[in-house]
Amino acid sequence: MKYRIGVSQCSDDIWRDKQNAELKMGAYFHDGVELKFAAAYDSDERQVQQIDSLVNNGIDLLIVAPNQVQTISPAIDRAYDKGIPVIVFERKTSSQKYTAFISADNYEMGRVMGEYIVSRLHGRGTVLEIKGLDGSSPAIERHNGFMDAIKLTPGIQVVASLQGDWTEPTAYETTKQWLLNNKDVRVDLVFGANDRTAMGARKAMQERANGQQPLYCGIDGLPGENGGIQLVRDSLLDASYIYPTHGDQIIELAVNILEGKPYEKETMLMSALVTRDNAKVLLMESEEIMRQASQLDQLHSKADNYLHELGIQRVVNWLAIAFIILLVVVLLLFYLYHLSKINLQREHVVNTLWNMEVPKEMKVDEVNIEEVVTEETDAEPVSAFITRFKEVIEARLNDSDISVEDLAADMNLSRVQLYRKVKNLTGSSPVELLRSARLNRAYQILLTTDKSVSEVAYDVGFTAPSYFTKCFKEEYGMVPGDVRK
Ligand code: FRU
Repeated sequence: MKYRIGVSQCSDDIWRDKQNAELKMGAYFHDGVELKFAAAYDSDERQVQQIDSLVNNGIDLLIVAPNQVQTISPAIDRAYDKGIPVIVFERKTSSQKYTAFISADNYEMGRVMGEYIVSRLHGRGTVLEIKGLDGSSPAIERHNGFMDAIKLTPGIQVVASLQGDWTEPTAYETTKQWLLNNKDVRVDLVFGANDRTAMGARKAMQERANGQQPLYCGIDGLPGENGGIQLVRDSLLDASYIYPTHGDQIIELAVNILEGKPYEKETMLMSALVTRDNAKVLLMESEEIMRQASQLDQLHSKADNYLHELGIQRVVNWLAIAFIILLVVVLLLFYLYHLSKINLQREHVVNTLWNMEVPKEMKVDEVNIEEVVTEETDAEPVSAFITRFKEVIEARLNDSDISVEDLAADMNLSRVQLYRKVKNLTGSSPVELLRSARLNRAYQILLTTDKSVSEVAYDVGFTAPSYFTKCFKEEYGMVPGDVRK
């Protein structure tokens, strides 16, 4: 993997799900980008741990949505101080230690929603506000924007600003508690800091049997089943505000940073109000986009499967090649082993020839040298033949005029027959064996007598002492004089 990118999400909900899917989709378009996700489920402590562990496990860049402004900043600073580029998205940190920030304008969102509410209530009415998680930047900014917008219209009264935490169950419980003490307070509109909050408050309000039917406004405006746009179209919410997820754009920014390309340090994402007037069109458009995204996803899975199969095919091919190579090596080793066995048998025959250690009677067939005995398959035992040939050689050892014909005649064979048989059995020709025998005898004489090298040479049938010395050196790797040293 070229780039390992850690994604630290403060929470886990449909908004984060959509964004995570987009982050993955964005990563498809860049070779070698691997995403590591962590979700803190709204816990500061858990998010701090998760950021530290992502950093310690080695990431090249951190994308983070800090749960609350103050609490997560030290962990982000630690990552940044280690030289890891940091993209903060959607929620802010209290520190300046980040590489880029990308989000929609939460203050503006609250302000526009405030203006919308003023106009929706025609400048007169009561509003119940349920805020987002205390200490998280969108909660603070949305509230401030909303308050700044409505304070210009005295006819709009905020009956309460309750503390929520972005979740539907908390909004439900908080509203329910408030209603217990404010049964008769008139509420014309509920503004939830996000759509889930607005829906939680709605559930609690509907349990109040006083016949009031307030309007509900939220923020997020997600497409898809039970998303804010559908809730507005179906009049469960009166309005929402699209809070863009844009995971693919975040990945684009990350890759630009990693590749040292130019990038914006602060990116403000476009956003829009969702009302009864545009909900239907927005839903149609978002459905179309989602359909295309799902097709793209299918295409990607297909490509993934294809690549996977290709990978398997490659492994199979390599295994087949490795198997063939192994087979060739085994066959070669077998051949070499067989060859060395034959040589050993030959050596054994030669050794027995000169050392007179003629072993138990062996037939040619028994020593498994069919390959070397081609024509002479008569049943004379190998040992008998060797003994006889040795005797013939010994008898003629000091005869310098001896020829192969003479040796053959002594063995009752033709010259050619003798040559073939001896060569096949020993790998050496009769002349070579005769010379070895002479040198062997010379060696013994040198060891046991005081005779000069020339005398020894003549004794064993050499006509020239210099040639004797040359042959001796070839056979024993030393000159005859060295034997006595
Ligand atoms: C998702 C969410 C959204 C909200 C945003 C605020 O986790 O709760 O619903 O708009 O976070 O940061």
